[in-house]
Amino acid sequence: MTETAQEQAAPATSRRIEPFVASVWPWVHDLEERNPEAVFFGGGVPPTDVIPVDRLRHGSERAWEDGADILLYGEVRGYRPLRELIAARMLTRGANVDPADILITNGAQQGIDLAARVFVDPGDIVLTEAPTFMDALRVFKSHEAETVGVPVDEFGLQVDVLETILDQLPKRPKFLYTVPTYQNPMGVTMSAARRRALVDLSQERGFVIVEDDPYGDLSFDGAPVPTLKSLDPDVVYLGTFSKILAPGLRVGWVASSPRLRESFFNVKEGTDIHNERIMTRAVFHASQGFLDDHIAATREIYRRRRDAMLAGLAREMPVGVHWTTPNGGFFLWVTLPEGYDTDAMLSDATDRGIIYLPSSWFYPDRSWNRSMRLNFSSQPEERITEAMRRLAETIAAV
Ligand SMILES: Cc1ncc(COP(=O)(O)O)c(C=O)c1O
Repeated sequence: MTETAQEQAAPATSRRIEPFVASVWPWVHDLEERNPEAVFFGGGVPPTDVIPVDRLRHGSERAWEDGADILLYGEVRGYRPLRELIAARMLTRGANVDPADILITNGAQQGIDLAARVFVDPGDIVLTEAPTFMDALRVFKSHEAETVGVPVDEFGLQVDVLETILDQLPKRPKFLYTVPTYQNPMGVTMSAARRRALVDLSQERGFVIVEDDPYGDLSFDGAPVPTLKSLDPDVVYLGTFSKILAPGLRVGWVASSPRLRESFFNVKEGTDIHNERIMTRAVFHASQGFLDDHIAATREIYRRRRDAMLAGLAREMPVGVHWTTPNGGFFLWVTLPEGYDTDAMLSDATDRGIIYLPSSWFYPDRSWNRSMRLNFSSQPEERITEAMRRLAETIAAV
């Protein structure tokens, strides 16, 4: 095929941007435009009426009181009181972290990118769950890592299968990226026995664990689960205020270790110098004396929405459809019988008034297309109930 004049004139972009260009989002946004009435289950955010706007405004006003000094460069690691608040919160999940090992980032997403920059050379192996958070896959691929998926079941990453995979790999992986608690996309939580086995295996075989934990505080049934970081101080832990306050704040953190912290600080400084100083103060002032109560209130809202979705699925789904039962977080995972293709079905589902995320995008090799991720946090119960009826209608029609 001959190149058009326009293609010839296009600047040569890098190989590394390709994973960012290939994305589910443009497709999903087109579908949203095609049917603006469709109920959108694709997101992973707190609903706007749950975001504590007044409290954040109060935090922001307090932040400005600190004067012009904070408008200069400074604090690569981030505002110290915020790092102390984070360390205290992490202790409630069993991890004893020195605030000096904490680096404030632009969300957990930047933590994922920094981890890749710290550990990955082109051609290195990065292990992920299969399925996993799709935007982490894009980052690892953009760093030219070879991503290898480890299957997940209702008790989280299958550590015995990981062991077999490790035996077959041509070289030692640099790290394993996991979302062990209320996983994105399946909503499942790694069992205590598997957590122990995973940490032991990482020490035995010499790979780092990167624990991404955006949903860990949002438990519905009983006390929050202890983190992997609580079992091993060498775990690199990624946290965020995106799901417990608001994603647009872009405030998250990396909790590393005395051996790794300088690498993370240097890479952060070389990337964007440091986070916005006003916003990190605003998040601190908003959170202090407020965040625990806020999280407790939001858990109740999300728990009711999860219950509505589970009840709707139980009532509407035909035989042969299965789903996970999350104990927290934002998502559940629905799997259809053999012969279905959730990529192919999405267009029809949109016309019938429901948009989900098809499973193939969550796999390093895009190999599984019979499941879908449904977000329950962002819709009121009545909409969820009605949407489950429409989903059943779509499945029956296909
Ligand atoms: C597992 C996981 N990691 C990271 C992120 C990104 O979060 P942040 O807004 O903190 O960058 C998300 C958001 O959906 C997520 O689900």
